[in-house]
Amino acid sequence: MPTRVLPTPRFTAATAPGALPLLGHAPALLRRPHAFVAGLPAHGDLVRLRLGPLDAYVACHPELVRRLLTQDRTYDKGGLVLDKAREVFGEGLATCPAAAHRRQRRLLQPAFHRDRLPGYAALMAEEIAATTAPWRDGDTVDLPAAMYRLATAVTARCLFAAHDRAGSLPLHESADVITRGVGRRVMLPLPGLDRLPTPGNRRFRRARQTLRETTEQLIADYRATGTDHGDLLSVLLGAQDEDGQGLSDAEIHDQVVTFLLAGTETTAATLSWAWTLLAANPAVRRRLHAELDTVLDGRPARHEDLPALPLTARIVSETLRLHPPAWLLSRTVTTATELGGHRVPAGATILFSPYLLHRRADLFPCPDRFDPDRWLTTAHPAPGTYTPFGLGARRCIGDTFGTTEAVLAIATIAARWTVTPTPGRPVRPTRSASLIPRPFAATLTRRPR
Ligand code: HEM
Repeated sequence: MPTRVLPTPRFTAATAPGALPLLGHAPALLRRPHAFVAGLPAHGDLVRLRLGPLDAYVACHPELVRRLLTQDRTYDKGGLVLDKAREVFGEGLATCPAAAHRRQRRLLQPAFHRDRLPGYAALMAEEIAATTAPWRDGDTVDLPAAMYRLATAVTARCLFAAHDRAGSLPLHESADVITRGVGRRVMLPLPGLDRLPTPGNRRFRRARQTLRETTEQLIADYRATGTDHGDLLSVLLGAQDEDGQGLSDAEIHDQVVTFLLAGTETTAATLSWAWTLLAANPAVRRRLHAELDTVLDGRPARHEDLPALPLTARIVSETLRLHPPAWLLSRTVTTATELGGHRVPAGATILFSPYLLHRRADLFPCPDRFDPDRWLTTAHPAPGTYTPFGLGARRCIGDTFGTTEAVLAIATIAARWTVTPTPGRPVRPTRSASLIPRPFAATLTRRPR
């Protein structure tokens, strides 16, 4: 039988309307970033933007996103968002160019091996317990701040299990200043603004210095004792490639900063959004409570409970669909090429947005509805469609770590507490390269046993 040749899909390209002289689309992107980006597929599959002097393309079709993310030498890490992040992450796994990536990923992958997760999950459970221990019935908390502290404590603990909680305080504080600073800096319209001697910029530089000194001290301490603490730093110190070469102290420093920053804000934002979605959807929340009452009966969740918590897991997947923390990402074109039949020049920035894809009504029916049960029938969407963790060689190395943490935290907290954002205005995201909620208060109500 002759082989059936499938027609090559034709992809449309266009320039987004509404560019202003000189500034182009930058004001629209800054003013209403999420709505602006989510509206781009209406103009084409590959949409060109002018951001001040820069030209950028946005891949709006899942197949174009798949091609972008699986050809990591043609579309390398770089461009608008990445260049700012590199100032802080250095040449760690998330920001290094493709040429350095294979070696780094091979060296670091064992730190996230399935067998290590139960150990990390035990540390996560301890940090969740420590976070909720001071909570009293009727308390009001700044919820994103509480989730951020929890996520920082978890990442710091899994990185440096041997480091005591009090001693890691400077680490938490500087990680906080830095993650928020990077997010804001990425959105700055003009180059150089991040070098002005403003209090914010000074705070940012001080935090970067503290983070460097603290991690350097920890690396020195670990090297001196040579013990395997079953944590991420122990794996980094023991990693060796085929030639017996390990990571240098400078490389380890960049990886530590990468894990701390890449692993914290993302998971914290997922948790904060999950609480707002559960409060707005009481029927889902009731079913969640029923699942937790059956499986946990009021006790904290453990790693071995995960298979028995399918609704909790679907709540996390659906939260990541509606509010993917890494919502706008970029690549740089290394050699002139074509994407979807359209020429893109070397040096061009190509943006892609999980948020845009996840809100397309043709990919996810009723896209704005929080419906965890859609994952009962859409367990494996086509590649490029659902990308909260990216895709291809640069896919998130901490995906299972992050979802495990989110499921354990939601399960343990919701088993004992009802979390209700204080009524008022709807929770809005900050204007940043990460989709994180602005501060909001929530009331904690203890559930009857
Ligand atoms: C819900 C939580 C998380 C989300 C939504 C998330 C999202 C992402 C995304 C979208 C990427 C790909 C970026 C790109 O293609 O440009 C990525 C990469 C990465 N993430 Fe995550 N992440 C999460 C948790 C974590 C955790 C817990 C860690 C570490 C402890 C981590 C470490 C990394 C690293 C090192 C990379 C770079 C991987 C590479 O280039 O090989 N992430 N993450």
